[in-house]
Amino acid sequence: MREGNVEVISLDEAGEDAGQMARDVGACLAATPKDLSPWPKYFYDAEGSRLFEEITAQPEYYQTGAELSILRSLSDGIVARTRCRELVELGSGSASKTRALIDAMFNANDGPPRYVPLDVSGSALRESGGRLISEYPGLEIQGFIGDFDLSLGRLLGRPTDRNRLVAFLGGTIGNFTPEKRQEFLDTLRGGLRDGDRVLIGLDLVKDKRTLEAAYNDAAGVTARFNRNMIRVINHRLGTDLDPDLFSHRAIYDADRQRIEMWLHSEAEQTIHTPDLEAHFERGEGIRTEISTKFTPDSAARTFEEASLQLLDLYTDDRDLFALALGKAV
Ligand code: SAH
Ligand code: TRP
Repeated sequence: MREGNVEVISLDEAGEDAGQMARDVGACLAATPKDLSPWPKYFYDAEGSRLFEEITAQPEYYQTGAELSILRSLSDGIVARTRCRELVELGSGSASKTRALIDAMFNANDGPPRYVPLDVSGSALRESGGRLISEYPGLEIQGFIGDFDLSLGRLLGRPTDRNRLVAFLGGTIGNFTPEKRQEFLDTLRGGLRDGDRVLIGLDLVKDKRTLEAAYNDAAGVTARFNRNMIRVINHRLGTDLDPDLFSHRAIYDADRQRIEMWLHSEAEQTIHTPDLEAHFERGEGIRTEISTKFTPDSAARTFEEASLQLLDLYTDDRDLFALALGKAV
């Protein structure tokens, strides 16, 4: 598909493969406890992407503002330092904060920049692409609908003659399980060429109250986002779970330094489909997502374990959030 200077290309099944989803969800529902957290991508149908945007506007959700403040004050410096002329963004979503980096690439006056977003959500990608191209007519956008679990290596293997900055914003790296995070970073590092840099957003460890408030917003948007997973499963796998019979809980586990989001079944319920069978006791929970928080030490360790060199860890003036700049060792 081509719209003006926006090209959107499908890289893989991007979570559209219902057979694969049935296997992933089936395995999750057979585990004790039931655990969907290895599969955050299933949150993001069009409604999930919309609800996520609404989360970022909640007063308790400090991350977006904190990350944006770092990007606003440091993007010119980051672009000057990395001399990047192509911005690859993984899990770009609405790309609202990305404008700071795009502005900085235009300010660097080194020819029209190229923007290469990848997201599993085609709706988010098309909307953000359309908006960006009307704001930046000189921008070249090549968007990819795809799953970074499947296609990151292929995306980074595309030929280009430019230095790239590979941005992974929003603290999305925290939503991986430790094993998947390691796999992701290994693939990322393997795909970097000389001159490429990575910029990774990390939410920082802080007091339990602030953290839990951010994932239990008073308006209930995070609860709706969480329950939307049940709607996605019903819609895609033909089940008939009642989303309103699941209650949302988000708890900070200080030992593991992570938020865990759960859905608790308020009634006994059973689902049967040709591909899926599961029973929920009353009160039984499903872990739906984790959000790992970092310290400067754990950030450095994470980079080291992935053979990435941490060049800088930028934080906002309240030390809520960090952006880690790195390169392949
Ligand atoms: N970067 C944006 C959005 C963060 S939300 C921000 O900072 O606001 C996480 C984004 O990652 C969503 O847009 C979601 O659609 C996308 N995503 C989640 N899992 C993915 C996967 N496996 N592959 C590609 N994109 C994914
Ligand atoms: N990565 C961000 C975080 O963990 C954004 C996010 C992903 C999120 N899934 C979420 C926020 C669910 C709230 C609820 O905070």
